[in-house]
Amino acid sequence: MSSEEIQKSVSSGLITIAVYGMGRVGIPIAVAWLRAGARVIGVDINESLVSNLNNGVVNLKDEPGIEEGIRKGLKEGKFKATTDGIQASKSSDVKIIVVPTVLNNQRRLDTRNLEDVTRKIGKGLKKGDVVIVECTVPPLTTEFLIKRILEEEGNLKVEEDFALAYSPERIYEGRALRDIEENYPKVVGGVGPKSTDVVAALYECVAKKGVIKLKRAREAEASKVFEGVYRDVNIALANELAKFCDSAGIDFIEARSAANSQPFCHLHLPGIGVGGLCIPIYPYFLTSVAENFGLDMRIVKQARSTNDDMPKYVLHLLNKLLDRLGLEAGKVKIGVLGLSFRGDVSDIRLSPAIEFIKLIHGSFAGVKAYDPFVERVEGIDTCKTLDELLAWADILVVATDHSSFKKLDLRHVDNRLIIVDGRNVLDPSLLPKGSIYLGIGRASSEAPFYKS
Ligand SMILES: NC(=O)c1ccc[n+]([C@@H]2O[C@H](COP(=O)([O-])OP(=O)(O)OC[C@H]3O[C@@H](n4cnc5c(N)ncnc54)[C@H](O)[C@@H]3O)[C@@H](O)[C@H]2O)c1
Repeated sequence: MSSEEIQKSVSSGLITIAVYGMGRVGIPIAVAWLRAGARVIGVDINESLVSNLNNGVVNLKDEPGIEEGIRKGLKEGKFKATTDGIQASKSSDVKIIVVPTVLNNQRRLDTRNLEDVTRKIGKGLKKGDVVIVECTVPPLTTEFLIKRILEEEGNLKVEEDFALAYSPERIYEGRALRDIEENYPKVVGGVGPKSTDVVAALYECVAKKGVIKLKRAREAEASKVFEGVYRDVNIALANELAKFCDSAGIDFIEARSAANSQPFCHLHLPGIGVGGLCIPIYPYFLTSVAENFGLDMRIVKQARSTNDDMPKYVLHLLNKLLDRLGLEAGKVKIGVLGLSFRGDVSDIRLSPAIEFIKLIHGSFAGVKAYDPFVERVEGIDTCKTLDELLAWADILVVATDHSSFKKLDLRHVDNRLIIVDGRNVLDPSLLPKGSIYLGIGRASSEAPFYKS
């Protein structure tokens, strides 16, 4: 089929896409293809999730357009969800793999989800089918692991009988659909030129910014891991510089802003830590493969460990503050603002906020948290409202950069507040008189804390 024929087939509903893994990324991908005109089968091993999807119930309230898109697809008879991965493979033309890619105990990719899903796809694979891997994987996974399983299970040959490509998903949680459709070009690398061309033609139907075609799958896999590692290393640098500023009495935020006015400088922001299922995991996808070649990626490893230690650093700031104020930890109640790993999302996976709460558990008079996006987390006391937390806590620690926290005006509160801002998001001028505010990289030895 030519590119034009492929695109016509998608828009007229002649192509069926099976999306394997209906999670935070898979559901928005399914909706993007529905909006492009395709028929979509959502495949997941989670039975209740599948049943909810078939009833139009989507648990992604922080993602605009998603529930609406699934409901429209159901109404038009273009979408259904299933747990039967083999049947879905038999009934579809294109199969997209977007299952979780997590680490095993040796901090290498746990391949079980990928292998399971690829075997099921292989068992239903037909001549002319297209398989696209979109979950983040260590470089070389598609050309070796995925290709081998598909060829064995399907008894077919890649490039001759079916197409196989890697195309990273680049979404930012909270704006997934917009990212897929509008914000970035789609990167595509096939295991051969035919695979690259057919997958690129497919994605021209969805990505308004077009497609970047790469030579092979391995360059596309590397591009995604590099994006994550770049962020991790740069955040670690910002954290290290901010710690230096804390010791030397320099305001990091002011110094950073001046440094970044030079076009070659892009200093990131320091913070309580890096969470979610992406950035903290991807560096290991690189270091583990590097080890196979006898390479020790020291910068990447050091950055990971610097960022992993940041909840401990915020505890260190908190303890320093208690010392200066002459307060005893055992008599102080800590209120944590935010539980999710990043602002304006409900995702708490590998959240540094939760890591921090675990770290301080038992050392203070009590810990409670409030998050406008997260109602409850097992094992953590939560407040229903911010006022409830303010009334209970002696010291507040900001752990998540929700937009609503950035605009917080607390000048009406009767008593002074003591705040350790692990995200540098609060505006100290909007705190009650006499309040004490400490941010990361803003606590100098000369001016230990801001006093309004
Ligand atoms: N969350 C993000 O912001 C983001 C951004 C870009 C890329 N990614 C990558 O996308 C991938 C998926 O991430 P996610 O956040 O959507 O994960 P998720 O945990 O939200 O969803 C994954 C879904 O896959 C299902 N699943 C697990 N094993 C399965 C199997 N064998 N067969 C069928 N379904 C299976 C799970 O039940 C779950 O519903 C990961 O590789 C991640 O690194 C995530």
